[in-house]
Amino acid sequence: MRERVAMAYQYRLEKVGKVFGRRQIALARIDFVVQRGEKVALIGPSGAGKTSLFRILNCTLRPSSGKLWINGDEIESLHGRRLREVRRKIGTIYQQHNLVPRLKVIHNVLSGRLGRWSAFRSLASLMRPLEVELAWSALKQVGIEEKIFTRTDELSGGQQQRVAIARVLVQDPEVILADEPVSSVDPSLAASIVNLLIDIGRDTHKTLLMNLHSVDLALAYFPRVIGIKNGVALFDLSPDKIDDRLLEDLYSGHLPPSDQEKVAHAESNALAYP
Ligand SMILES: Nc1ncnc2c1ncn2[C@@H]1O[C@H](COP(=O)(O)OP(=O)(O)OP(=O)(O)O)[C@@H](O)[C@H]1O
Ligand SMILES: [Mg+2]
Repeated sequence: MRERVAMAYQYRLEKVGKVFGRRQIALARIDFVVQRGEKVALIGPSGAGKTSLFRILNCTLRPSSGKLWINGDEIESLHGRRLREVRRKIGTIYQQHNLVPRLKVIHNVLSGRLGRWSAFRSLASLMRPLEVELAWSALKQVGIEEKIFTRTDELSGGQQQRVAIARVLVQDPEVILADEPVSSVDPSLAASIVNLLIDIGRDTHKTLLMNLHSVDLALAYFPRVIGIKNGVALFDLSPDKIDDRLLEDLYSGHLPPSDQEKVAHAESNALAYP
């Protein structure tokens, strides 16, 4: 029987853990509640478990232990159509963009609608773009509307990241999970994109969770910041309560990740989808 609890929150996690293989512990024990419409930043060293946590939150990965409720539904009890419905309400901006490189920007953006379109309509849109207006206005919001008909693999890394954001804007989900959405843009653009996602979240009452390597952006823009290290939440506080000592604890013993590590990481994640 499906277990239901009060509906005021978006997410509730109770002792959530994730182990890959026999002993690779990505998440040890995570407990938190996120209210609907809340804006939360997650920070922490490379390998802390942030991406694994997001994959659990968007239901592409099942926890190995503990419980997760989304909108009152215990996720373990969801399968088939109900599970797809829950997934459709969650838009993810992936750390590695997950765009189709050979497609034009407009098709990547409109693929945000796939969950809602019939197969025929999705196919038709690949041949003759429907809802050009919709794609154009999402691209305008992220400042690259002039690239609408460009091939995606001809864009810079930062521009591709913005296409991934436009795709989620077109999906218009209830929850946005943004995994390092600004890692390949310059600092001033990074701030404006974080700001844009927060504004959109506020105007459309979306829940927004963002993984950030930039502590400055997390503290400047979010009312709540969770520090993740070794698969546990080291703190869960408003930014004014987060001091240098806490941040030193969070990052102690960790060097900034090299690009090579990040690529290896992305590949292992890509292979892990069930
Ligand atoms: N598919 C997988 N198979 C095995 N181990 C994995 C897999 N995905 C992640 N891990 C491991 O789980 C741990 C957490 O990884 P995760 O990607 O969640 O970290 P992260 O906090 O997102 O790091 P980053 O800041 O570098 O993106 C790491 O030790 C990682 O190597
Ligand atoms: Mg990550």
